[in-house]
Amino acid sequence: MVGAGEKVDYVFKVVLIGDSAVGKSQILARFARNEFSLDSKATIGVEFQTRTLVIDHKSVKAQIWDTAGQERQPLPPPDNVVSHPNLAIWLARRYRAVTSAYYRGALGALLVYDITKRQSFDHIPRWLEELRGHADKNIVIMLVGNKNDLEEERAVSTEDAREFAEKENLFFLETSALQATNVENAFQTVLSEIF
Ligand code: GTP
Ligand code: MG
Repeated sequence: MVGAGEKVDYVFKVVLIGDSAVGKSQILARFARNEFSLDSKATIGVEFQTRTLVIDHKSVKAQIWDTAGQERQPLPPPDNVVSHPNLAIWLARRYRAVTSAYYRGALGALLVYDITKRQSFDHIPRWLEELRGHADKNIVIMLVGNKNDLEEERAVSTEDAREFAEKENLFFLETSALQATNVENAFQTVLSEIF
């Protein structure tokens, strides 16, 4: 840890992405404050938290961005909402503007799924596509299978995920924000690799 008021040598922006309820906000809470909550509320809008660490004798401020998994999916609004043709266009533009701002300047990304929710893993290629479409081409990406404390409910094998990560050139770890397993490791790996 680095004390308040000490100089920061680098600021690295890292983004969290993945479906709703996979545990992005709790991974961040564990990393930034060593906290965890079981009744975590869905994120609204965009939030970020920072933590400063020392890497190779330099102080690195990690600025971790978190947003709603729900809102990140460009789903069309319900029919009753789109009563005016311009609203759909406005919503699509707003979605693109928010998406670009989120990824702008990001040097690292944690691409998170829930090992007990097959669908959250099946959506990973879409998240990767969005990430690669908006972020810097040298961005460091870590595929994260969260909730590995729930082994008895596992729906995605470690092997399947590892194979996907190798094919796509991603780092890969399974984590538990609840048990604090590999959360530190995941961020440390990404931050050191950026460094
Ligand atoms: P959105 O903000 O909607 O995109 O969701 P999120 O990805 O931020 O999920 P969040 O961190 O809010 O966690 C969703 C639920 O999963 C909460 O009830 C958490 O307590 C729970 N959860 C998160 N991480 C873990 C974990 O490692 N193990 C277990 N068992 N539950 C977890
Ligand atoms: Mg959240």
